[in-house]
Amino acid sequence: MRTQVAIIGGGPSGLLLAQLLHRKGIDTVLIERKTREYVLSRIRAGVLETGFIELMRLAGVAERLDRECLIHDGTLFALDEEIFHVSFTQTTGRPVVIYGQTELTRDLYDAREAAGAKIFYQVEDAEIHDADTQKPYLTFTAGGEATRIDCDFIAGCDGFHGISRKTIPLDVRQEYEKVYPFGWLGVLSETPPIDEELIYSCSQRGFALCSMRNRQLSRHYIQCPLSDHPEDWSDAAFWDELKRRIPQQYADRLVTGPSIEKSIAPLRSFVTEPMRWGSLFLCGDAAHIVPPTGAKGLNTAASDVHYLYHALCEHYLEKSSRGIEEYSARALARIWKAERFSWWMTMLLHRFPEQTEFDLRMQRAEIAFLRENESARRVFAENYVGLPY
Ligand code: APR
Ligand code: PHB
Repeated sequence: MRTQVAIIGGGPSGLLLAQLLHRKGIDTVLIERKTREYVLSRIRAGVLETGFIELMRLAGVAERLDRECLIHDGTLFALDEEIFHVSFTQTTGRPVVIYGQTELTRDLYDAREAAGAKIFYQVEDAEIHDADTQKPYLTFTAGGEATRIDCDFIAGCDGFHGISRKTIPLDVRQEYEKVYPFGWLGVLSETPPIDEELIYSCSQRGFALCSMRNRQLSRHYIQCPLSDHPEDWSDAAFWDELKRRIPQQYADRLVTGPSIEKSIAPLRSFVTEPMRWGSLFLCGDAAHIVPPTGAKGLNTAASDVHYLYHALCEHYLEKSSRGIEEYSARALARIWKAERFSWWMTMLLHRFPEQTEFDLRMQRAEIAFLRENESARRVFAENYVGLPY
């Protein structure tokens, strides 16, 4: 089988890239290790930058998103009992959009399938060959059959645990990593959100976040030790601890209910360089991870897709290799800034095991500065709504 762009991974990155290229008449084949149902069962974040929304519109898949999303003009910060609002629109003119990654991925799968896309599910033993040449190919097994796909380019959209990044030789690849000494215990519940906007809370007992997917579905997180297991946390214990970490007036009006999903995620910052090796491009979680504070995971994937989509269009439609040559540098320039922002927000709001009284005072001073200083709020808002592509 032959295609122009072979895509590894049917998460948001791979699906969005495939759909965008399809609209320009560029042929793709996508392979996914799991089933569509499995991919859709993964609970992930749901705060989208407007740049992402524009890409979804360009891909022709924003109809339900535009209809059902919630628009957030700002966010709330809590420091113990104090709470304050930071507007995004006042300083940047742009809001963020709430729409669950699961719904977005479902919309992309529906659009791809409606277009008769070539997607192989449950592939095994995928391997990338000759990526450093102009005749790369993929081999894998699907439905018990050995398959080979010859192509011009390979998009490695296969997440942090995929094969694409590891295909780049160690003497070419440089990795940068920071692991944080705690996790986030997350609970999804069919309860109304506590407020119209998200609440990022820094408390003596640790960080908490009140988020949402829609008006009936809430997503809450608390910082927890990495040694904890979700099954050790009863729903009641979770709600009790969350209430202790947010201001009393909010705790009093929190509507609790049974969890429909409960999990613990570790926090990590990670970047690999370069993001291109010959005919292989890395995109999304395959190339970088951010801690979830700031909700940049999905949004950094979108900016990679933006650069790669334009690079491939330039190659096929304008016969220019410039976008391809510059893909890695352009994508990384934006990624590092999102990494900085996610790291900063993580450092600002969490309790760290080795934190001294001095460190705590620094955190409090920085949060107070954000509350009082318009320039600080503008810097925060510009990063939160997303830096330009
Ligand atoms: N062969 C085929 N598919 C693979 C392989 C493989 N060898 N390895 C991994 N995959 C698939 C995974 O099963 C997964 O569905 O690649 C997909 C990667 O999807 P994500 O991990 O969601 O990564 P990405 O599309 O870059 O999305 C980035 O979305 O999932 C969130 O936390 C993530 O917010 C981040 C953003
Ligand atoms: C979420 O809703 O899952 C979410 C929101 C904001 C974050 C992280 C996660 O910063």
